[in-house]
Amino acid sequence: MTKDTPLKDQVALVTGSSSGIGEGIALALAASGASVVVNYASSKEGAERVVQKIRDTGSEAIAIRADVSDEEQVLEMFSKTIDHFGTVDVLVNNAGIQKDSEFIDMTIEQWDRVMGVNLRGAFLCAREAVKEFIRRGFDPLRSKAMGKIIFVSSVHEVIPWAGHVNYAASKGGIMLLMKSLAQELAPQKIRVNSIGPGAIKTNINRSAWDTPEAEAKLLKLIPYKRVGEPADIGSVAVWLASDESDYLTGTTIYADGGMLLYPGFATGG
Ligand SMILES: NC(=O)c1ccc[n+]([C@@H]2O[C@H](COP(=O)([O-])OP(=O)(O)OC[C@H]3O[C@@H](n4cnc5c(N)ncnc54)[C@H](OP(=O)(O)O)[C@@H]3O)[C@@H](O)[C@H]2O)c1
Repeated sequence: MTKDTPLKDQVALVTGSSSGIGEGIALALAASGASVVVNYASSKEGAERVVQKIRDTGSEAIAIRADVSDEEQVLEMFSKTIDHFGTVDVLVNNAGIQKDSEFIDMTIEQWDRVMGVNLRGAFLCAREAVKEFIRRGFDPLRSKAMGKIIFVSSVHEVIPWAGHVNYAASKGGIMLLMKSLAQELAPQKIRVNSIGPGAIKTNINRSAWDTPEAEAKLLKLIPYKRVGEPADIGSVAVWLASDESDYLTGTTIYADGGMLLYPGFATGG
């Protein structure tokens, strides 16, 4: 382990890392020395592209398909990971979707699918990761912590979002899932934290930034006047996974260019 490779000899599983923020996190963890499991639900090509990018830089990676909302598929993903790499040190619960609708038109399918992937999926993966951390046990040569879980939440764990109540409710749920888990697992030296991204350029929100007009409108919400990139989240994930952040547990780090600073009040309100 060196300053450049703080995750050397550690294994990270990143859910939903075939594109977007998950891809940015997978690449950053690999560049920091970790071997990476690139999980995906449907984008096999995307996952294989990310695996190849990682291998090209000299780190190890494999792609594993699993719908994180399905218990059996999650169990299988962890078992394949452990068969291949021996254990898991870092879980990044990143997989997430939006199914937007005005509230009165929101269907039970839109509600259940978003809760299923964003919240139930995060629960299922965290549970299997914790089982593996406990099975492997504490090894100070790997890390000061027995294991690390990072949730990719959102500024919408605290900012209400009209027209997206299923998504905002799932992220609000992640916040207390993360904190309760951090409280429960701290005595076992398992650290649990979240990253709360603001607006990051990915497929999930393409229409909000892919024309100059849309981007200008979005920038009104971002005091730092730049829409984020997946690499902005990747670097936070590396720090949260490394021993550099060993005293952090139960915290959300908002990486949002100041979106949570109530930009509407910048000129006096
Ligand atoms: N972009 C933003 O501005 C922003 C802001 C705040 C928070 N976030 C959060 O960041 C996370 C990543 O989103 P993104 O912006 O990077 O969007 P994205 O590019 O659409 O990526 C979503 C990823 O999740 C995977 N996924 C979807 N359903 C899945 C399932 N059932 N099981 C496993 N994987 C699944 C997708 O894989 P497949 O393509 O293979 O289905 C894809 O890799 C989400 O939790 C999102 O809520 C994003």
